Amino acid sequence: MASNGEEPVNVESLQVESVKALASQFSDQYEVPARYVRPEFDMGEVVTKTSSELPIIDLKKLQDPRFSEEEITKLGSACGQWGFFQLINHGVDKEIINNMKSNIREFFRLPLEQKKAVAIASNDIEGFGQHFVVSNDQKLDWADLFFVNTQPVERRNMKFWPTNPPTFRDALDKYSSELEKLAKYLLKFMANDLGIETEVLFSAFKEHPQCMRMNCYPPCPQAEKVLGLSAHTDGAAMTLLLQVDEVQGLQIRQDGKWLSVEALPGAFVVNIGDAFEMFSNGKYKSIEHRAVVNAAKERISIATFSMAPYSGMVGPLPEVVKGGKENYKTMNYLEYFRGYLSAKLEGRSYLETMRLSN
Ligand code: OGA
Ligand code: NI
Repeated sequence: MASNGEEPVNVESLQVESVKALASQFSDQYEVPARYVRPEFDMGEVVTKTSSELPIIDLKKLQDPRFSEEEITKLGSACGQWGFFQLINHGVDKEIINNMKSNIREFFRLPLEQKKAVAIASNDIEGFGQHFVVSNDQKLDWADLFFVNTQPVERRNMKFWPTNPPTFRDALDKYSSELEKLAKYLLKFMANDLGIETEVLFSAFKEHPQCMRMNCYPPCPQAEKVLGLSAHTDGAAMTLLLQVDEVQGLQIRQDGKWLSVEALPGAFVVNIGDAFEMFSNGKYKSIEHRAVVNAAKERISIATFSMAPYSGMVGPLPEVVKGGKENYKTMNYLEYFRGYLSAKLEGRSYLETMRLSN
């Protein structure tokens, strides 16, 4: 971001140890360091939902004139009531997905020194490391991450694109274009559901900026004491999540309880982010979610974010509000995003500050 003529995001995150390196020191008596142990109240009540309970949206049906109308209605209610759905028959080339999966697995498996070649620089968010570490005594997540800007191509900062494994860049490039296409399909049907022209929604996403966050959650012998990713809403507009080895761990918050989401094999888990909740004036919901850790298995996920343009504004689209009441402030997205990053992961609290009271 900083190197390509745009304003830098400029958010300081403190450097902390790699969790994968920490996890590799396990012995039978291993105690998780106190900085990772969550207080009981952080964990909350958890309910397990099966894959058939989270709304399932079928892209083939959305595209088929015989089923489209009904499927768009389902899509709209999934975005409005759940803020989450599973996308099946998405048509993304299997080989492209598998290549991306094997490259990210290999990347996280590299010795720490090699991953540090693309370490997050101070004041920015791209690279390998951790996000949202704002103080030396806050609790830490049980995960390492790798974050890069992927679209448009001019926003790529190649110094953060790993050269090892050697096929990584090509795999990421191809996966990124496929997911951009997929996101655009979804936006088209969402525009239809919201009763606005596709072009209106596309102009809110001007140039369709995309970034990716790849999360690596090493196994933890005291998995019930830690969180892989603290409760948060996504600052982006929309997220398409792929679980690399079908190891589950995502939980979403509904009516004050945490639901463990078991996604269908091969499906993307799609969720609405803060920027889209604001664009849609609250018709679509950005729901809190988090990731838990497995005691025995490593879990890797790839979150592909459709962002609002940093140079643009976020707020209710006039075509959605149609002269009614605006429920959110309108503000510069870069300012919004900086605030999001420095507000740390605290559920929906930052988004709530954007709401206009009645
Ligand atoms: C994220 C996220 C969930 C997961 O990266 O924003 O919510 O299951 N990830 O990894
Ligand atoms: Ni998220």
